[in-house]
This record gives sequence, C-alpha cells and structure tokens, in this order.
Amino acid sequence: TDRAGAPPPEGLRATARRLVAGGRGVLAADESIATMSQRLDHAGVPPSVRHRRDYRELLVTADRLAEGVNGVILCEETLRQRFADGRTFPTGIAELGMLPGIKVDTGTAPLAGAPGETVTTGLDGLPERAAEFAALGARFAKWRAVFRIAGDLPSAWAIRANAHALARYAADCLQAGLVPIVEPEVLAAGSHPLERTAAVTARVLAAVTAALADAGVDPGATVLKPNMVTAGSEAEEAEPAAVARATHDVLRATVSDDLAGVAFLSGGWEPVTAAANLAAIRELPALWPVTFSFGRALVSPALRAWGGDPAAVPAAQAALLVEVRRNTAPDPVPA
Ligand code: 13P
Repeated sequence: TDRAGAPPPEGLRATARRLVAGGRGVLAADESIATMSQRLDHAGVPPSVRHRRDYRELLVTADRLAEGVNGVILCEETLRQRFADGRTFPTGIAELGMLPGIKVDTGTAPLAGAPGETVTTGLDGLPERAAEFAALGARFAKWRAVFRIAGDLPSAWAIRANAHALARYAADCLQAGLVPIVEPEVLAAGSHPLERTAAVTARVLAAVTAALADAGVDPGATVLKPNMVTAGSEAEEAEPAAVARATHDVLRATVSDDLAGVAFLSGGWEPVTAAANLAAIRELPALWPVTFSFGRALVSPALRAWGGDPAAVPAAQAALLVEVRRNTAPDPVPA
C-alpha cells in the first residue's frame, strides 16, 4: 500500500527522467559537514555554519544554473538552511527551476569481516528521515557506497554488503516519494590498469543491479551514479576513447536497460579530464540518458575563486558556470 502523501510511481519516474534530461546534469553540493569544512579550510575560508551556507547559496544562485543543472544534491545541514532572502534552500532551488535533493547516507564505517573495507551507514530510521526530507521539499536522494581497489580488494563480502544497503536505501526512498540516486563508487586511487577497474566495476554493478531487483526497486524511477572506467589515478592515464569504450561495455553488461538514466561522478579527476571522458562516453550509443552528477569537477575552481571574499562571488559563480557548460550536452536520447 502507498504511503499517504507519496507521489504515484509515474510521478517518481517523471522526476527521475527530469534529473537526467536535456543533456543537463546534477550538481553534487552535498559534502558532509566534516568534508566541506576541510575543503573550506584548504581554500583559506574559516569553516563555519555561515560559510558553508554562503558557499552553497553562491553555487545554486549562479546565473541561469538551471540551463545546465537539473538537480542539486544537498547535505542535511543545507536542506534546513535558508537563502539570504529567507527562502529555504529547497524552495529557492525549486523556484530557480531545479530539483532539490538530499544525501541520506551517514558516511562509512569499517565492515566486520572485511579488513580495510567499509560499509555505508544510515539505514536505521531511514523511512522516517526520508519522509521528513520529502516534506521539507526534497525530490530525490543520494547514497554513496565506496569500493577500494588494492591487492585482492574489493572483497565479495564488501560488495555484497554495500549492494544490499544501496538496495534497501533505494526502496526506502521510493516508498517515501524520493527518487534514489544509487552511487556505487569504485575509487580511482591506485596504480592499477583500466582493465582492473573494468573488472571490479562490472562485479560491483552486477551485484547492485541484482540487489535492486531483489528489493523490487523500479529502475525507471532510479538514477545510477557510477564511476567512469578509468585507469588508476597513479597509473598512466587512459585516452577518453578507451575510457568510454570500457565504461560503455561494463554498463551494457551489468545494468538494467530500463534505468531512468546514468549520471557519472567525477571521482577527483581534473575538471577537464572528467569532461573529456564524459564527452567520449556520450558519443557511444546508450539505452539511457547519460550525464554528469559531479561534485569536485564542477565546484573546485569556484571554491578557489571565492576564497570567502564576498566581492569574489561573481567570479566564483562564473567559474562554476564554465564547468557546468563544459559538461552540458544535447540530450543523446530523444524524449
Ligand atoms: P565527485 O564528482 O567529486 O566524485 O562527487 C560526486 C559525489 O556526489 C560524491 O558522493
């Protein structure tokens, strides 16, 4: 039975399609308080509630951001904050023509039985939290699982545990009326070749696809946020065409044909590298809309340009828009 107030399935599918439509993507501005504080600190900005708010408002109010961005992922702190003009972030973002979203995982914890690996946490109480976030105006959610390539890792157990958590998260969110963005990230760190990333990403995505099906998650109301299949960050860099071919082959072999879309994470790659790889992936035929859900590759230049200086807000917003435009493409799949 449907939860009172939850939109019908078609509403969720429509929202999922809207997130990836038009060659536009998703801005991931959902760094945890700890991570955001670190990044502010590195940029010379004293980390505070106020500065985290100022920075996020600067990002989402960049002029006509909605021309390249369909949705913005926030962390819980920001979801509850307000624009300088008094509107809440979800209301302000919606009025700017974008969908507000919320990161609902609570980070990672060591996984017993898998030395050196983690499982993503946050399932306890998630149905209630998701319902509250929906009431606050969130339209979609995000949960990130992390896999490290090193020696024999990732282990079968870490893959299974994280896939299971992603599926439970996705089912809870759909029930509460939020579209799930399912993010299984195989980290780039390491000196492994692209072939290793391909094999590991295929194992991870196959497990996630199976778990989502077990949980009865509607792929048509789900956006997948995977890593691109690259060589390790300390290995010789692969050409975009090779990244695109490998990414395409892995996805075709492992994910549902019916997904609403695939929105890649940037994974710490330089903005120009992430954009070149995304462009190459978009040149290959796909069954779903393909776009970006970047964090660092969109916002790093803007944070540097801002540095906490109110007079530098226009320069920071211009820097964000440069990166957004670099990644905005005509929709590869006609609506
Ligand atoms: P990056 O694009 O910086 O990898 O971040 C995406 C994200 O949302 C991480 O959870």
